[in-house]
Amino acid sequence: MPTLQRRSWAEPFKIKTVEPLKMTTRREREQFIREAGYNTFLLKSREVYIDLLTDSGTNAMSDYQWAGMMVGDEAYAGSENYYHLEQKVQEYYGYKYLVPTHQGRGAENIISKILIKPGMYVPGNMYFTTTRLHQELAGGTFVDVIVDEAHDSQNEHPFKGNVDLQKFEDLIKRVGANKIAYITIGATVNMAGGQPISMQNLRAVHSLAKKNGIKVVFDATRAMENAYFIKRREKEYEHKSVKEILHEMCSYSDAATMSGKKDLLVNIGGFLALNDSDIFEEARNMVVIYEGLHTYGGLAGRDMEAMARGIEEACQLDHLQARIGQVEYVGNRLIELGIPIVRPIGGHAIFLDAKKFYPQLDQLKFPAQTLAAELYVDSGIRAMERGIVSAGRNKETGDHYFPKLELVRLTFPRRVYTQAHCDVTVESVYEVWNNRSTVNGLTMVYEPKYLRFFQARFEKL
Ligand code: F0G
Repeated sequence: MPTLQRRSWAEPFKIKTVEPLKMTTRREREQFIREAGYNTFLLKSREVYIDLLTDSGTNAMSDYQWAGMMVGDEAYAGSENYYHLEQKVQEYYGYKYLVPTHQGRGAENIISKILIKPGMYVPGNMYFTTTRLHQELAGGTFVDVIVDEAHDSQNEHPFKGNVDLQKFEDLIKRVGANKIAYITIGATVNMAGGQPISMQNLRAVHSLAKKNGIKVVFDATRAMENAYFIKRREKEYEHKSVKEILHEMCSYSDAATMSGKKDLLVNIGGFLALNDSDIFEEARNMVVIYEGLHTYGGLAGRDMEAMARGIEEACQLDHLQARIGQVEYVGNRLIELGIPIVRPIGGHAIFLDAKKFYPQLDQLKFPAQTLAAELYVDSGIRAMERGIVSAGRNKETGDHYFPKLELVRLTFPRRVYTQAHCDVTVESVYEVWNNRSTVNGLTMVYEPKYLRFFQARFEKL
């Protein structure tokens, strides 16, 4: 019954402060996107109506978090807020040691530099852009060991974030365990469509890794959202709290990199969390070079406080139900309209299948880049390409990677938009879908060397 479903995820908050949105005309948007080189990352935020570019750092903080900002202890060393954050990380995630960083990639840089020696391999359940780049810059080679189902946008597997244990084992046999720096486990898997990994799989990965003396590094960026899926989809966890599930998930790893800008409801912040005292010693030493002293890691005291308080709020069932319920609501409406999206609906975003929107475009006409630009022109909604542009080039051959998934991500900031914004979004996607046959694609006219999707420029074909 639709009415019952709606009640189950009604927002568990009321609005106390608002930020007016800016409206633009279609003609203005045509000009803005041309000037931005048909890259939504290059639009100015004042040119955007509903901003679904990312759920990273775009969250609305609560009054409790804002109050925490006022008790920021802005000491260079030993800030009170560092100890509070450390205590919350230990309590919720269960790791012994904390190294704060300015955001997730700061932690990725440090762990990659410590654990990867040139020539080593780093398997993972699908790549993430910054994670893989730090592994490569440290001399490693990323190997995708996610289940095949993850590469098929229509496959309804409930845990498309799972590792294919056979692929992991084959890699161990092929290169030898001593050539494997560690395995990275993302939860949920962003590039697969926000798809969760199951507890059963996590446990099995951990045991195979341990048997071979391989470390497990957990990307905990959206781990609470993953824990929510485990609660809903894995029978034996139905009655466990999200906090208990999160704790168990983390227990199957040696370390975690974290972008607090997602799950933790803040605008900036991250950390590296560890169990091994030797690696901690090294990380604590290295953070001083790249981020800041080991008790602030590039963050103000107030930022650490907001993140510590965010941990408590983000782990509440009410919050996760409403957050994931909002994404589900949009997804279900799009499915009803016959629009091709990645199934099942993921945790943080809806992923439109651009190959199915534009079968007339081969991948070098950048279907997803094109679709994101079309959506912007239609309504001022900003989405993100997650296809061939994001995948980049093979560092050995210099060729484009041609990912199977050519997607546009509609990413939902936490606690920011209302159901009416969701409805406007659905209507705009539907309009663009109905006009799909008139579209000719793009050509790339400028390509940066690293993480090209951020700054690449295109022209209309
Ligand atoms: N890991 C995952 C799974 C991520 O999604 C991100 C960031 C990072 C690591 C890096 O964290 O941005 O704090 O340095 N994802 C953002 C996104 C950028 O839009 O999906 P960061």
